[in-house]
Amino acid sequence: MSTRPARLDDLDALVALEEASFSGDKMSRRSWRRAVTSATIAVIVAPLPDGQLGGCAVLFFRRGSNEGRIYSIAVAAAARGRGLGRLLVQGGEDEARRRGCTSLRAEIRVDNAASRALFAACGYAEFGLKSGYYEDGQDAVLIRRVLG
Ligand SMILES: CC(C)(COP(=O)(O)OP(=O)(O)OC[C@H]1O[C@@H](n2cnc3c(N)ncnc32)[C@H](O)[C@@H]1OP(=O)(O)O)[C@@H](O)C(=O)NCCC(=O)NCCS
Repeated sequence: MSTRPARLDDLDALVALEEASFSGDKMSRRSWRRAVTSATIAVIVAPLPDGQLGGCAVLFFRRGSNEGRIYSIAVAAAARGRGLGRLLVQGGEDEARRRGCTSLRAEIRVDNAASRALFAACGYAEFGLKSGYYEDGQDAVLIRRVLG
C-alpha cells in the first residue's frame, strides 16, 4: 500500500473518516476543502486496494520555518493495526522533507495510547506537556522528531 496527496474528490471520505475517528476538535467540511487546496497544508491519504480511504494525515507548514507540524492522523477503524498509521507518518515525513523541513512536531492527547505508541514506534520523542490543550480540557503531550 502507498500514500498520495488528497484530492477534492476525497472530501466526502475525509469528512466521514474524521467523523468516525474523533469526538471533539473536528475539522468542518469547509476546513477540509481549504486544507486540500492550501499551499501550506498537506493532506496525505492512504487508499485501500478496494479504493476506499484507509486513512489520512494532515500536516501544517509555515513559510520560513523548517519545522512542520503533524496536525492529525486517522486510520479507518476496520483498517487499524495493519501498518497504515506508520505508512501515513512516513508519507507525511516524505512530504515535509520535500518542503525543506528538518523536523516534525505534533501534539497528542495524553490519554491516546494508540497514537502515543504509533509515534514512539516511528521515532518521535515526547518532550513536554501543554495543559488543557483540547476542547474538553485534556492535556497534550508534545512530540518531535528530527528527520534523517
Ligand atoms: C492512532 C492510529 C492512527 C494508529 O493507526 P494504525 O494503522 O492502527 O497503526 P499501525 O498499524 O501503523 O501501528 C504502528 C505501530 O503503532 C503502535 N500502535 C498502533 N496502535 C496501537 C494500539 N492500539 N496499541 C498499542 N500500540 C499501537 C504499535 O507500536 C504499532 O507497531 P506494531 O504493529 O509493529 O506493533 C489509529 O489508532 C487511529 O486512527 N486512531 C483514532 C484517531 C486518533 O486517535 N489519531 C491520533 C491523534 S491525531
